[in-house]
Amino acid sequence: MTTTCAAEPADPADPRDAGELLDPEQLREVQLRRLRATLRHAYDHVGFHRAAFDRAGLRPEDCRSLADLAHFPFTTKADLRDTYPFGMFAVPESEVRRLHVSSGTTGRPTVVGYTEADLSLWADLVARSIRAAGGRPGHKVHVAYGYGLFTGGLGAHYGAERLGCTVIPASGGMTARQVQLIQDFRPEIIMVTPSYMLTLLDEFERQGVDPRTTSLRVGVFGAEPWSEEMRREIEERLAIDAVDIYGLSEVIGPGVAQECVETKDGLHIWEDHFLPEVVDPVTGEVLPDGEPGELVFTSLTKEAMPVVRYRTRDLTRLLPGTARVFRRMARVMGRSDDMVILRGVNVFPTQIEEIVLRTPAVAPHFQLRLTREGRMDALTVRAEARPGATPEAREAAARAIAAGVKDGIGVTVAVEIVAPESLERSVGKIRRLVDLRGPSGT
Ligand code: DLL
Repeated sequence: MTTTCAAEPADPADPRDAGELLDPEQLREVQLRRLRATLRHAYDHVGFHRAAFDRAGLRPEDCRSLADLAHFPFTTKADLRDTYPFGMFAVPESEVRRLHVSSGTTGRPTVVGYTEADLSLWADLVARSIRAAGGRPGHKVHVAYGYGLFTGGLGAHYGAERLGCTVIPASGGMTARQVQLIQDFRPEIIMVTPSYMLTLLDEFERQGVDPRTTSLRVGVFGAEPWSEEMRREIEERLAIDAVDIYGLSEVIGPGVAQECVETKDGLHIWEDHFLPEVVDPVTGEVLPDGEPGELVFTSLTKEAMPVVRYRTRDLTRLLPGTARVFRRMARVMGRSDDMVILRGVNVFPTQIEEIVLRTPAVAPHFQLRLTREGRMDALTVRAEARPGATPEAREAAARAIAAGVKDGIGVTVAVEIVAPESLERSVGKIRRLVDLRGPSGT
């Protein structure tokens, strides 16, 4: 694995870096002070939170320690939908400078708002993330996250500018042109979903350009779950360092947590601004660090839309800090919504990804189809053959994937090896799972 870039250290003279230089005790003090202020702000200005605290018989000042947060009520995606569009805002509409809309797959979308200070904080945190990824002032950053209501493009954009980089706002799509621009402008950094990176890599090869010869040195990949095998695939084909960036619109957007290039060991959560908890997804009970469960966030400094114990539905675990003082979160295994339960066994698309990417004769493109046979759910892995793979090699690949899933995950799946270039390519967030079970199965 290549480490071509070391991250620039935090600057003691820059107040925006102050959080990274706190010792653990100072960090807890800052968090508690900010948490109490956030609970007060939410209670005083958001009817939803006031009603929820009142129902629980709690006042903001009842939070006397970080552990006391566990007594406060959760906020869910459904709560955000119910208060659509602006019911969660804690400032007058005239103070909201930007709206984004979260990529909901079902029902009403959710809206998030930012004050001027929120936008500035967001840019600072994405700048911090890019720096931890190995970026520095003067670098050129090719942003291929979608621009628009999605937070990826604009979030990356302002963060890269804040760090002092030159931004190439490519957005998603026009893949052939992106490959040309990367060759002409010679960026050091690319920010894009890992699945769209694969689409770009195929396009490099289609144009007869060896992707290993580009100027790119670091890729900052996120917005969807991806696996260690995918990291290996991208790093090898592109000769870069591939690091993980995490975030969600409801909390701020990209830049909630970032993997540091020097360790590549999970994502440091910017804990001076977002307080994480991991809870049991069923009981809601707070779990000790190290245990897997659902990630929950409370914002500590946001003005327009503070979030209190927001249930992300993302499954991960909290780990101690390494390259930074902040705790890390392990690579997100998947969302509870994308988990398939087959005969009692939980299956995540990222687990299948690991197996498909390890299999010779298939390309790193796959799709999962969920159907119902009688009263049982059945899963078919559709993986794409590499060009030139012989029928025997395809059959061997199908057997290897089925055996890998059986041995590694413990369930039986059907495997179909489909023709090269036949599965839909990603231009943003990829949807791995196609649910064909119909209304009774969903
Ligand atoms: O995807 C924000 C973002 C943009 C993050 C660009 C990173 C890069 P949403 O559209 O609101 O926001 O989707 C948030 O995407 O709850 C996770 O399920 C998933 N997600 C985001 N980053 C990662 C990641 C943006 N690094 C939802 N690994 C989150 C796994 C991720 N899943």
